[in-house]
Amino acid sequence: MLGPALLAASRSDRIRRLVSGASVTRPVVDRFIAGDGLPEALAAVRTLIAQGVEATLDHLGEDVTDAAQAHRNRDAYLRLLEALGREGLGGHAEVSVKLSAFGQGLPDGHDLALAGARRVCEAAAAIGTTVTLDMEDHTTVDSTLAILAELRRDHPRTGAVLQAYLRRTEDDARALAVEGSRVRLVKGAYKEPASVAYQSRRDVNLAYARCLRILMAGDGYPMIGSHDPRMIELAVRLADGYGRSSGTYEFQMLYGIRDAEQRRLAAEGRRIRAYVPYGADWYGYFMRRLAERPANLAFFLRSFTTR
Ligand code: FDA
Repeated sequence: MLGPALLAASRSDRIRRLVSGASVTRPVVDRFIAGDGLPEALAAVRTLIAQGVEATLDHLGEDVTDAAQAHRNRDAYLRLLEALGREGLGGHAEVSVKLSAFGQGLPDGHDLALAGARRVCEAAAAIGTTVTLDMEDHTTVDSTLAILAELRRDHPRTGAVLQAYLRRTEDDARALAVEGSRVRLVKGAYKEPASVAYQSRRDVNLAYARCLRILMAGDGYPMIGSHDPRMIELAVRLADGYGRSSGTYEFQMLYGIRDAEQRRLAAEGRRIRAYVPYGADWYGYFMRRLAERPANLAFFLRSFTTR
């Protein structure tokens, strides 16, 4: 019941000010966010790499209101990629981009976001790494997949995210299960209506399993974005069944979630990547993590009572 309320709160400016201003919030935020700035993000990446875990970095910034803000977000990624290149981390770290942060939601936002993402793909290619386009609410899926198709003409390894809770996703998975196509499969983190998305946990899990099978059977590069032990086990079984070697798919988990499992998979010789968010605009991301799991919320609330 709390999940929908927290997802609604993630879009409220009033609650944003309240939560962001509370002094007890910070230690909890630090569990899920690598830091406000680039130096902290790079330090987190180095620590992960030392543990055998690769990274995809997300510079936090959603809901831009003008093109100048979209350009600032794009430039933050260009600085990030320059730093990854300078530090020799391009072989182990890529970037994840939310097109809303590049202006997708503005009038003429599709072209603005495409232009920004193109610049970022070029900078990524220059240091030998890749970009993955995060997926946001269902109204953005067509635009995001169209931008992906444009980007893949010059940068075929640009990745997409598919959300298993959307009823359309099995078809999208079939279309993207092709040679060279990198697809991160997640359950989905936004509040969506029943007309477009499965609502029960059971239906979402079943849809995830169906989509995972399609991606693992196909010719692309599946990225299993889940902390769910059942999905991880299924992915391992499917990889064995389809004769996939370890470099032909990877696991992905969020920074700060199931760290021990991330290290265990790495120690088993499996490719695992942590999604590392950083930046001052952490509110929306943080609230979605609280909405996903009561234990995360309990951890947050406990910090108010144990200060
Ligand atoms: P779910 O939340 O259903 O949890 C299933 C099980 O996993 C739990 O029962 C428990 O066993 C285990 N588990 C989960 N969290 C745990 C924790 N904190 N500690 C211990 N065990 C835990 N969404 C989106 O809409 N667009 C996107 O672009 C992305 N991108 C993205 C990237 C990556 C790398 C990941 C991992 C996830 C996303 N997501 C996302 C978020 C995704 O849609 C989803 O909301 C979360 O991953 C939670 O779903 P799970 O598959 O982890 O299972």
